[in-house]
Amino acid sequence: MQANEYNDRLDSLLRFSEQIVRIEDLDALLDQLLLEARRYTGADAGSIYLAEDEKLRFAYVQNDRLQSLGSRNNRFLYNDVTIPIDESSIAGFAASRGEMVNINDVYNLPDNAPYSFNTSFDEQTGYKTVTTVAAPLTTGNGTLVGVLQLINKDEQKPFSEEDLLYLRHFGLIASGAIDRARITRTVFTRMLQMAELRDPKETGAHVNRVGTYSIEIYEAWARKRGVPDDEMRAFKGSFRIAAMLHDVGKVAISDKILKKPAKLTDDEFKVMQNHTEYGASLFGDTHSLLDEMSRDVVLGHHERWDGNGYPKGLKGEEIPLTARIVAMADVYDALISSRVYKSAWSEEDVDNLLREEAGKHFDPELVEIFFTIQDVIRAIRLKYMEQD
Ligand code: C2E
Ligand code: SIN
Ligand code: SIN
Ligand code: FE
Ligand code: FE
Repeated sequence: MQANEYNDRLDSLLRFSEQIVRIEDLDALLDQLLLEARRYTGADAGSIYLAEDEKLRFAYVQNDRLQSLGSRNNRFLYNDVTIPIDESSIAGFAASRGEMVNINDVYNLPDNAPYSFNTSFDEQTGYKTVTTVAAPLTTGNGTLVGVLQLINKDEQKPFSEEDLLYLRHFGLIASGAIDRARITRTVFTRMLQMAELRDPKETGAHVNRVGTYSIEIYEAWARKRGVPDDEMRAFKGSFRIAAMLHDVGKVAISDKILKKPAKLTDDEFKVMQNHTEYGASLFGDTHSLLDEMSRDVVLGHHERWDGNGYPKGLKGEEIPLTARIVAMADVYDALISSRVYKSAWSEEDVDNLLREEAGKHFDPELVEIFFTIQDVIRAIRLKYMEQD
């Protein structure tokens, strides 16, 4: 490789590293990392394992060929698979030795290789793996974060020396970014756990439903608007978490009000309304996308399209899109479920209320979109049923 070509490559790697430090959502980050590593090396498929509890957990997969065959759910095929960090597998070998493993034909491994190739993914999908490279992801201070594995370079050529050199640099950048994203995720997850400890009646199930409804409504909205796929995916990862946090400010509301098994008085309701501003103050002076989105949602999820909501009385598109979506997802879920202060409504009554409130409480375009994905909404409701 020419010196200036090498410089160009380093430059592009640096630019990439500036881009990815801004991605806080772990799934969105893994998605971008794989995309970039595959783009550079020409790999048809790839996956990332994350190191957890002395094991490697299969965390993310991309496969263009399977994707183009329409099997969009391959991403979940290996969802709960873990492999030991030892020399029995290709990824395990790379992790335990801290070395890259470059293989020209996985079905024809050298006799002295300690590892074997796990054929179950190929068997389940009909995909044929030939060449592969597994690169350990280790941070600058030596912590193993995971393994990046790439599969089938163009025309089944072996991965080159240049690919390996690139992956060495790439691995450092990727590990740092993954490490940060995992810390962020941990912080947000703990915030959710605190809210749940405070108010166990409002179970994780409600929070999960509102988070999942919200990203599905967003996705339908984004498709209608022609938002590019990668932008949409990156947005969804953070939005799910922000939506789950919508009521985190309720931790500051006294039990007497929070858990009152009857209608609130006007004064009590005024106090309750402060949960929006209490919650938003948790995301005060921060600048990341996830913080900003969380603040928008937490502050704005009780605003109304017609301007009669709280805390600010914002109107129409003055209310952030994320908050408009969560407003509808939250009310839908509050009505369709029972609460300490109310029993569950029938699906028909809930649908009627949403229709009636289009253009009043809710963004009319979002109500319309909601009814186009009702089967998805129902499936989510069944998936996260209340366990109590
Ligand atoms: P939440 O239970 O998560 O309810 C979210 C939103 O769903 C409510 O926002 C409201 O817009 C809608 N919603 C819930 N139940 C009903 C209902 O029976 N009829 C109609 N039309 N809409 C309903 P809102 O009103 O701003 O309330 C915010 C939070 O205040 C509620 O969150 C809940 O925690 C609390 N809250 C509201 N009213 C009462 C009440 O009468 N008793 C108690 N204990 N808490 C209440
Ligand atoms: C993370 O997921 O890694 C951080 C929280 C988020 O944005 O998803
Ligand atoms: C919370 O208790 O703060 C979260 C549950 C909910 O969304 O109502
Ligand atoms: Fe709320
Ligand atoms: Fe809620």
